[in-house]
Parts: sequence; structure tokens; C-alpha cells
Amino acid sequence: MSRSGKRQEVLQRLRSRMGQWVSGDELSAGLDISRAATSKHVAAIKQMGYVVESAPGKGYLLTKAPDLLLPDEILCGLKTLRMGCAGVVHHSLTDSTNVRARELAGEGAPEGTLVVAEEQSAGKGRKGRFWLAGKGEGLLFSLVLRPHIDPARAALITLMTAVSVAEAVISETGVPARIKWPNDILVHGRKLSGILTEMSMELDAVDYVITGVGLNVNTPPSHFDHTLADIATSLFAETGSPFCRVSLLQAILTRFESCYDILVNEGPESILDRWKSLSDIIGRRVKVDLVRGEVEGVVSDIDADGVLCVTDAAGTSHRILSGDVIYLD
Ligand code: BTN
Repeated sequence: MSRSGKRQEVLQRLRSRMGQWVSGDELSAGLDISRAATSKHVAAIKQMGYVVESAPGKGYLLTKAPDLLLPDEILCGLKTLRMGCAGVVHHSLTDSTNVRARELAGEGAPEGTLVVAEEQSAGKGRKGRFWLAGKGEGLLFSLVLRPHIDPARAALITLMTAVSVAEAVISETGVPARIKWPNDILVHGRKLSGILTEMSMELDAVDYVITGVGLNVNTPPSHFDHTLADIATSLFAETGSPFCRVSLLQAILTRFESCYDILVNEGPESILDRWKSLSDIIGRRVKVDLVRGEVEGVVSDIDADGVLCVTDAAGTSHRILSGDVIYLD
């Protein structure tokens, strides 16, 4: 086992008995490390922000874990087989986790590589917009995917991610998250989370997909600037309670992996059904702003490729691959 593997194991042993004394012998059992090495590992763990007491004859006592998206924290108790397990890269500050993940993917990073950040200086939203979030207040992460799917169906990954995020939010927090096509998670009409999916192709096949998620977790309402005050929300703003970002991320990754496997191995039908039950868009009158022009009409369906189908007043059906939807009623 590598040095960092041993440190992770020491941390896992302390974490699994948080609030209880653990002897030096218990911490080092089977790891082939000396007393001095054990205490060095504990010192490194404290350096990461964990509060660990030590006392002769008693051993070590973990009393507090840092509220950071550290790889060890995320991996401890994570129940996925690939998402996150292929490697977690943590940034205190970076420009954009999507940019970092793209870089890693270009260097050959495996599927499931996860990039997380406490803060982004140039968080990317759709259509050249920015994603703004205060340091340590939310979840900002990107996953490297290498799906064997037709590039024309890559939009389904955005829809599938939206299902994972919305379902995890509902089950972990009870907040009634809803999906607005294609990639917004709303609560009572305000945006809680956004998803940015970017794809790289080689010939006619998908080389990699980066799916990036921004989710406002513990943002106090006063921290949304004047451009966001009326349109954004956070889990804290909705409930008045703070949430553990690591647990929420673990829940999202678990659901994401299961939805992704269904999408890639079985096809989109059941994911689309789940998407539709989390969305209130079907049957609604909408205006969709397109790159050129706009379409107004009633949403008749989301088709098997995740495309929005709108029927206008003249009865013409429009298949919309990308655009901004405005609800008209
Ligand atoms: C949108 O709603 O327009 C999409 C927002 C996506 C934001 C996330 S934050 C983590 C990841 N890194 C980025 O630069 N963007 C995505």
C-alpha cells in the first residue's frame, strides 16, 4: 500500500470511530507502520483541517472533520464503483472544474475522474454565461465520462444528470426540486442547480464527455448578488438549515452512476420517464429563445433523444435541440 493509501486508511479508521478514542495500535494494525509513522500520518491529517486530540495511553480522538470537499472525505463511505473512484482532484480555487476535467480527459483520465472545487474564478454556464458561487458554499464539480453512445444522443447525459441531481436533492433534503428543460434544477421557480455538459468527438464517436454541476447548498440569500437575488436559491435558503456538502455529493454520485449505467446499457426510456415526472414542462405554453429567433407554443413531449418538441399556434411541430425556455403560464 502506498504512503497516501496508508494515510487514507488511518483517516478512515479515525472517521469510522469519530468521537471515540482509538489506540495507536488499532490505527496502525496491518499497515506495517511504526508509532512515529502513525503520529506523522495523524499530523498530516490535522494539517488537512481535521481536529484530532492525542493522549498517552489513550491514543487518538477525531472530534471534527473539515467542511471541505477533500478527496479523503468524499471517498470515505462512497458507495460507487467508478464515479469518483477513478480519482478525485480537489482545488481550493480554480477557473472552472469543467476546464480542469477537460484537460485531464485530454491526457487520458479514466471515466469517473472527479474534479471538485471550493471556488471558481471563471465558472462556466451555458451559452457563455458565468456560474457564480461563494467559496465553500456549494457543490462545484465535473466528471469525466467516456460513454459508448451515438454523439447525437449526448444531450441525454444532461437530462440524466438532471434526474440524478434532482432525485438526490429530494431524497437527502426533502426540498421539492423540479427540472426545467434542459438542465436547470428549480425550487419554487428559482434556480438551485445548473448543469453544463461538454463533449469531445473523434471521427464519429464520442471521445469524452464532461458533465459539470453547480449546486447552491449553504449559500445565505444575502450572498446572491442583485442579478441573482430574485432568480436563484440554495438548499439553505429553502430550509434554513445547512447541509453537509460531502454527503450530498456522495448521494449525487451514487444516483448518477446508477442512472448512467441504465442510460448506456438499457437505453433512455426509464430515465426519460423519471425526467418527465420531475418536470412540469409537458403541456405548458412556452417561448423558447433560439440562437436565431424564437418559437412559441405548447410542449408536446421530450423525445427519445432528449429533444424538446413544441407545437406552435399554426399546428407546426418544432424539434428544439438547445435554447432557453420561458414559461408563459
Ligand atoms: C448553467 O446553468 O448554465 C450551467 C451551469 C454549470 C455550472 C457548473 S459549476 C461546476 C462546473 N464547472 C463549470 O465551469 N461549470 C459547471
